[in-house]
Amino acid sequence: MHRVFRTFAAVGLLALSLAGCKFQPGWGYNQGYAPEQPIPFDHSLHVEKNQIQCQYCHNQVERSKHSNVPALSTCMNCHLQVKTDSPHIQKLRDAYDKGGSIEWVRVHMLPDHVAFNHSAHIAKGVNCQTCHGEVEKMKTITQVQDLSMGWCINCHRQPENKAPLNCTTCHH
Ligand code: HEC
Ligand code: HEC
Ligand code: HEC
Ligand code: HEC
Ligand code: HEC
Repeated sequence: MHRVFRTFAAVGLLALSLAGCKFQPGWGYNQGYAPEQPIPFDHSLHVEKNQIQCQYCHNQVERSKHSNVPALSTCMNCHLQVKTDSPHIQKLRDAYDKGGSIEWVRVHMLPDHVAFNHSAHIAKGVNCQTCHGEVEKMKTITQVQDLSMGWCINCHRQPENKAPLNCTTCHH
């Protein structure tokens, strides 16, 4: 009887510790995450094939903490004329005519206790690709880096970056 109990207890503990590991922070967050979007927006088609600059669409990234996802009006600069026979573009047009928006699924997301700032990095010449991978080749946006604290610190620590390391830089 006791032996059976001990076996159950051991299995239970193992299961608990595995469950614990699964939620353990610092293992990397959503690396490889590539959610389906409400409209299959293809970066490679726009950036590489049609040579549209990142900042044409993400036009706040140099000025702001946040890099915005473009407004529908930015899409309609082209798609009032381009490819209007496509059902995806008709969906864009419908939302635009109704004054609505497209609910893009957020891909990269740090926890609330972390302060990130795009403009500070862009101003120092850190490329989008260093942190987001080869977006110009992506049909679907995929999170390439793990966005862990270790990843941030590793780059901040490089002598040539002279980037701050004190806790309050990233945690307010
Ligand atoms: C024609 C407009 C357009 C251009 C040009 C463009 N993007 Fe985007 N980008 C979008 C849209 C729309 C989304 C939201 C849908 C999605 O995630 O695919 C997005 C999403 C993203 C995301 C994910 C945001 C999140 O939710 O985490 C990143 C990162 C990104 N773009 C980087 C880039 C980079 C880097 C370039 C240039 C190499 C670029 N984009 C060029 C329109 C554009
Ligand atoms: C600077 C011009 C330009 C802008 C801005 C632009 N696009 Fe495009 N888009 C194009 C071109 C060019 C094509 C390719 C058309 C073709 O295949 O002939 C295209 C193709 C597409 C397609 C594929 C259509 C299909 O069914 O084949 C989708 C979806 C799309 N764009 C969505 C968007 C969205 C969403 C935005 C805004 C975030 C946007 N585009 C902004 C120029 C643009
Ligand atoms: C030093 C790394 C780094 C660089 C460089 C960088 N990003 Fe980001 N990006 C991030 C992180 C981290 C997030 C998640 C931010 C959050 O959750 O607060 C993010 C989020 C985003 C988002 C989602 C909206 C937002 O602001 O949270 C978009 C769009 C984006 N980046 C586009 C770009 C573009 C375009 C460039 C280049 C012009 C760029 N990023 C350069 C790290 C970077
Ligand atoms: C590829 C290198 C690199 C990565 C990765 C990186 N950073 Fe930085 N970071 C820098 C550089 C360079 C600076 C600019 C230092 C300066 O302004 O002198 C900086 C500056 C900052 C600043 C200071 C902004 C200000 O207002 O002065 C914050 C906050 C910051 N980074 C947060 C983060 C966070 C959070 C991450 C991870 C999610 C991250 N960084 C990832 C290189 C990087
Ligand atoms: C360059 C930016 C940066 C600096 C500097 C930084 N952190 Fe973080 N920290 C992060 C990011 C990003 C996360 C979220 C991802 C993760 O948990 O790995 C995080 C997460 C954390 C967490 C939460 C982990 C969890 O259990 O969820 C703690 C605690 C923490 N940091 C403490 C510190 C302390 C203490 C310092 C100073 C010695 C510090 N951080 C300096 C970026 C930074």
